[in-house]
Amino acid sequence: MYSTLLVLHSLTRWFVLAFLLYSIYRAFIGFTQNKTFSKTDNAFRHWTATVAHIQLMIGIILYTRSPIVMHFWSNSKTALQNLDLTFYGLLHIVFMLTAIVVLTIGSALAKRKLTDKEKYKTMLVWFSIALIIIFIVIPWPFSPLSSRPNFRTF
Ligand code: HEM
Repeated sequence: MYSTLLVLHSLTRWFVLAFLLYSIYRAFIGFTQNKTFSKTDNAFRHWTATVAHIQLMIGIILYTRSPIVMHFWSNSKTALQNLDLTFYGLLHIVFMLTAIVVLTIGSALAKRKLTDKEKYKTMLVWFSIALIIIFIVIPWPFSPLSSRPNFRTF
């Protein structure tokens, strides 16, 4: 169960990034070229938030199963001196939750804006902030915070 969740969580990160990047690209083009906010734009707004929520669900379950997180909470005083334990026990969850809240607010606000220009602008700004946070807290192989493989297999 734990290793399946880890593989899934690792894989879903690429969908989160792909949806975010493409939505930001569409919002940028729409905003700068004064386009009409189409059904496809709206679908990408909606599905980007949904994919992030799926990743959030997997993350929450993974958090309750992870031996690293369990070790962090059962030795929290000494664990705080270990960056890898603190990263998964605290930093990853706090910043990812923040990013997903930002993304969700952006999606909801964009939906309620009256003009197409405002819809694109709202999506562009809020989704970009979420992407920056997510990018920083992903444990890339090159990350100084915690290093994990780009693709994990069973
Ligand atoms: C967009 C949001 C997120 C992305 C892109 C993301 C991405 C990742 C990646 C790439 C890993 C490394 C997987 C591996 O070792 O192969 C990871 C690990 C982990 N994530 Fe996330 N994550 C997100 C949100 C969350 C959230 C919200 C939580 C908790 C509620 C969470 C909990 C965890 C845990 C506990 C691990 C490490 C598990 C372990 O090694 O035992 N993640 N995450």
